[in-house]
Amino acid sequence: MSGQKSPFTPLDDIRRHGARLVKKFALETQRKDEARFLKSWLDKPLMTGAVSPSGKALAKMMARYVDPQTPGPVVELGPGTGPVTEALIARGVDEKRLILVEFNPDFCRLLRKRFPRATVIEGDAYALEMTLADLDEPVAAIVSSLPLFTRPERQRRALLDAGFRMMRAGSPFIQFTYAAVSPIPLKGKNAGRRDFDAKVSPRVWLNLPPACVWVYRKNQG
Ligand SMILES: C[S@@+](CC[C@H](N)C(=O)[O-])C[C@H]1O[C@@H](n2cnc3c(N)ncnc32)[C@H](O)[C@@H]1O
Repeated sequence: MSGQKSPFTPLDDIRRHGARLVKKFALETQRKDEARFLKSWLDKPLMTGAVSPSGKALAKMMARYVDPQTPGPVVELGPGTGPVTEALIARGVDEKRLILVEFNPDFCRLLRKRFPRATVIEGDAYALEMTLADLDEPVAAIVSSLPLFTRPERQRRALLDAGFRMMRAGSPFIQFTYAAVSPIPLKGKNAGRRDFDAKVSPRVWLNLPPACVWVYRKNQG
């Protein structure tokens, strides 16, 4: 075979080497995020609500319910290390429009580095209207990864209602869950008035653990 010309040019070699480096860097970043998440879960299991960040497939499933054309800020509750934030940007939401509400100060520092044009608020998402008191325009969508089942049903419903008051009519409140039922009660004494529509995505089996995405929209009129 000697003397045969290689089909690859030096530029191809550089590209392949570059691609390997990008893959290695992405894997290292993913491992570091997993370690950060595990530490957060060990410190505050109920607050963190998961032992590792959401996978790409689940993040994409959440982002697909956001229409980037709807004007106004997009609020993310519990962004953690930012997998859903990345998916929102990939979906076409300008980073500048993102308001990230996160309780964990270490995650907030990381988010500020990773998404320098987004607004990162270190605060309590359950006190939504107080935490976002400075907002002066209707929100286009709320995307939540909060571990809702660690809170009483009444508080979950109150969060949804606060979200509806801040959003444009018909805009989505998007919530993922590992559970088989809606994290916002749909029946029973804590469900309140069913003045909203609730739809669930197919289960995302590629996530660990598998999860699905609920989308709640306030009924018009
Ligand atoms: C299940 S993790 C999801 C993180 C990330 N979005 C993901 O999908 O990998 C829940 C996140 O919500 C945050 N969180 C929990 N309670 C919160 C609260 N009351 N206000 C703001 N963030 C909260 C946790 O610190 C954690 O980052």
